[in-house]
Amino acid sequence: MADRQEAATAQRILALGATSAIAQATLRLLAERGAVFFLVGRNAVKLAAVRDDLLTRGAGAVTAFAADLDETSAHPAMLAHAVSVLGGFDVALLAHGVLGDQSEAEKDYATAEAILQTNFLSAVSLVTWLANYFEAERRGSIAVVSSVAGDRGRKSNYVYGASKGGLTIFLDGVRNRIDRAGVQVLTIKPGFVATPMTAHLKKNALFAEPGRIGRDIIRAIDRRKDVVYTPPFWGLIMLMVRGIPRRIFKRLNL
Ligand SMILES: NC(=O)c1ccc[n+]([C@@H]2O[C@H](COP(=O)([O-])OP(=O)(O)OC[C@H]3O[C@@H](n4cnc5c(N)ncnc54)[C@H](OP(=O)(O)O)[C@@H]3O)[C@@H](O)[C@H]2O)c1
Repeated sequence: MADRQEAATAQRILALGATSAIAQATLRLLAERGAVFFLVGRNAVKLAAVRDDLLTRGAGAVTAFAADLDETSAHPAMLAHAVSVLGGFDVALLAHGVLGDQSEAEKDYATAEAILQTNFLSAVSLVTWLANYFEAERRGSIAVVSSVAGDRGRKSNYVYGASKGGLTIFLDGVRNRIDRAGVQVLTIKPGFVATPMTAHLKKNALFAEPGRIGRDIIRAIDRRKDVVYTPPFWGLIMLMVRGIPRRIFKRLNL
């Protein structure tokens, strides 16, 4: 059984935001299984480095495709091209995202809109296409990196949190639609991870390494889970955070 589950994730992988540290950690584990990849990222130089790394780790073949994923009108042609290159997908991983500048977004709608465009709208566009693709195939996995930040609005990062909260709810609905077609929709909720996105933050014991997150993502795909908190203790933390009464929560400096 374990071998059969592993085989399900050892085949054709579409990675969107493939230069992300969390994506790279996940893709390396899939490369060790001999997977083939279609990688999308906006920085062609970084993307080429990821491609070379995956090839040295055992990837069967890797195609790199440079694209700014904010450009939603280009998504259908890009995804159709990826299908023709790989001959179809078994797993699609979405990992692109921006933290954005919360204090700037509080003053300037354009800043808030840019965060929502990258983290929410571009993912909605990609998942809309992928859900229809996989539903017709009656198989496959869509794995999307959301965040614990989407579980509750905090004053310190509610624009990013709203982009991820919207994404989480969107994925809930898509799952409820296509689960019956045999398609897994996995919502990945990392806590703090030491990546370029958080390089400016002071590290503490709650920070995890991307390798840890990658292992949890692979395990969750293999087990066909719906939602994964990673590391898992974040499930408990967020249960407690969601349980704090609103009248108290609004006075906290979180
Ligand atoms: N780090 C954390 O603590 C944490 C916690 C929870 C969730 N997450 C989520 O995890 C995911 C991966 O982030 P990470 O931590 O691995 O940070 P990261 O290494 O900074 O990755 C973010 C990636 O998104 C890409 N990206 C941003 N805008 C894009 C666009 N318009 N088109 C294409 N690619 C774009 C970046 O490309 P460039 O390399 O070209 O900049 C980068 O590869 C994100 O969705 C993030 O929100 C992170």
